[in-house]
Amino acid sequence: MTVAHRRISERVSAITESATLAVDAKAKALKAARRPVIGFGAGEPDFPTPDYIVAAAQRACAEPRFHHYSPTPGLPELREAVAAKTARDSGYQVSASQVLITNGGKQAVYQAFATLLDPGDEVLLPTPYWTTYPEAISLAGGVAVPVMTDERTGYLTSVADLEAARTPRTKVLLFVSPSNPTGAVYPPSQVAEIGRWAAEAGLWVITDEIYEHLVYGDARFASIPVAAPELADRCVVLNGVAKTYAMTGWRVGWMIGP
Ligand SMILES: Cc1ncc(COP(=O)(O)O)c(C=O)c1O
Repeated sequence: MTVAHRRISERVSAITESATLAVDAKAKALKAARRPVIGFGAGEPDFPTPDYIVAAAQRACAEPRFHHYSPTPGLPELREAVAAKTARDSGYQVSASQVLITNGGKQAVYQAFATLLDPGDEVLLPTPYWTTYPEAISLAGGVAVPVMTDERTGYLTSVADLEAARTPRTKVLLFVSPSNPTGAVYPPSQVAEIGRWAAEAGLWVITDEIYEHLVYGDARFASIPVAAPELADRCVVLNGVAKTYAMTGWRVGWMIGP
């Protein structure tokens, strides 16, 4: 007897190809064909990884101790380094035990939603957003609830708009500043306001800080669990080396949580 079943699971059928990577592949193909194309798809520095990083990786490759399984959450010294870096760069004081190393920020995005969402749980997702978020939310069984922003507010959402989109099923707010794709950076006072609102509403906040150092002019990055410390027990910080250190191909990211 044969059993009728789908070739691909419903879960995976529900997600679509990364639009960002599709457009990036197209731009790279056009460039290879010597067409004068500037790609605005993938967020990727156009210079190589700094030499001192490459040299350190070469030394690490030669060390047998790094040729074996590492503990599941990551190498202890790397988790310590991430905790120290986080305190230095955003003022968020965490212990190494709160840090999990991932294969890039993208895996951290997926794991955060997979860990927090049950089927039907809603995620407030300010638009325009990086195309990975709704797919990771669907894959985890959740429902992305877009919260529209536009040029009138500089592509920033507000407590009023978030509150209007909140329902009894809302579990998570996805907060990204500086934002991809708009580049919008929330003023620290507004970060604090949104963080306090989320804490009061009992929501989790998943905050993607991968663009923390790509700020220009008067804009200032503020980390939401620092701006609203009462949120820390329900906040997951996502980050990685890809953008800041021109290491997109190295696939190193992390998540920090309670
Ligand atoms: C907003 C945002 N977060 C996270 C990532 C993930 O970066 P990676 O998986 O390369 O570490 C990207 C990459 O484009 C991004 O734009």
